[in-house]
Amino acid sequence: MPGQVERTFQIADVRAAFPSLELRDAGTPRIYLDNPAGTQVPRAVADAMMRSLLETNANLGGSFSTSRLAGGVVAEGYRAAADFVGAPDEDEIVVGPSMTALTFAISRSLAHSIDPGDEIVVTAMDHDGNVAPWLAVAQERGAVVRWVAFDRETWRIEPAALKESLSRKTRIVALNYASNLTGSVNDVRALCELVREAGALSYVDAVQYAPHGAIDVAAIGCDFLACSAYKFFGPHVAVVWGRAALLKSLHPYKVRPQSDAPPAKFEMGTPQIELFAGLTAAVDYLASLAPAQDARRARLRAAFATTSAWEERLAERLIAGLRRLKGVEIVGVTDYPGLPHRVPTVSFTHACVRPSQVAAELARRGVFVWSGHNFALETVRRLGIDEEEGVVRIGAAHYNTIDEIDAALEALEGVLSA
Ligand SMILES: Cc1ncc(COP(=O)(O)O)c(C=O)c1O
Repeated sequence: MPGQVERTFQIADVRAAFPSLELRDAGTPRIYLDNPAGTQVPRAVADAMMRSLLETNANLGGSFSTSRLAGGVVAEGYRAAADFVGAPDEDEIVVGPSMTALTFAISRSLAHSIDPGDEIVVTAMDHDGNVAPWLAVAQERGAVVRWVAFDRETWRIEPAALKESLSRKTRIVALNYASNLTGSVNDVRALCELVREAGALSYVDAVQYAPHGAIDVAAIGCDFLACSAYKFFGPHVAVVWGRAALLKSLHPYKVRPQSDAPPAKFEMGTPQIELFAGLTAAVDYLASLAPAQDARRARLRAAFATTSAWEERLAERLIAGLRRLKGVEIVGVTDYPGLPHRVPTVSFTHACVRPSQVAAELARRGVFVWSGHNFALETVRRLGIDEEEGVVRIGAAHYNTIDEIDAALEALEGVLSA
């Protein structure tokens, strides 16, 4: 008998939207569990990008049709991104090549307001894309860096721990929504409230949360939030939302003819117009998983309610299977398989077999996973895990099936017992 999730979530329809899920390597089906490093794209995203390249390919600002159409593609991309993160206004959306590149750009423009002795808070749970830019600012400006540790039981940043790191001198707090290594999810709303009370700015890395749950920057109460479309079924392009007044007040490096208004002043050179088309199509794809009668924001919320319930089933199965394997130690929450505690990204080490060997052997069996520190450098350091080897990371997306999880576990059992 199908359960509630199976009744509301049509996995066969979802999978049919993604051509790459059908591909095989020398007859072996591909099982994509490398999703935290990048998801597959639905045909609609590839089609939209192709259409943009073939039909609306021009630079912006001209009076001829392709230029006007390209302007429309870009404008629609900002609107889609604003809906995706719940932004009050699409002028608050900055688009760029990657979360890392955008974060360096924003951090560099915030650096002007940092004085020697000011404090910048980073966490031991973050990907280096939300650490290194702030360490660089601190070094350049003579600011003090305060590290917040994650709790070893809840695997997240507890408000009390953050509070201890805040002072009157705190200017910026960089934290993540979900860890790309442990999969744990922070209560960003509570954390950002503390940051606000301390009179500092919050910069939230939502890259790993974005494929799994609806984002609402207004409800979170952050000052900046970053995500990358290639992690949520779109192309390789990233988005930063920033409070309008803040974006207006910053002075990024830019060419002189470029407008001084946001978002243009943060975006160097000609925009990647076809990527804007893909960004819109990715957001529309996600919205299409909910009934069509509502506005896009409401549909995104409804869609994520459904996909996250499905992903929770996948994570539950995966965690239960891993726990049965001798020598496996899961690095993260095991008791709660879903939101708001964790996303379906599950990392582990093994008592005898190296993560790189596990990943390579699984790849030979058609199971795609990552090993290593996955750029969550401080996380593996704090856990005393070998920095180069790191962990094996298995990350599900809503298009994965229970059968795929079972096949991955069976392959893993074979690798570990060989
Ligand atoms: C949590 C997190 N933050 C930041 C990044 C960097 O994103 P980008 O590749 O867009 O720079 C990643 C990439 O894996 C990530 O997982």
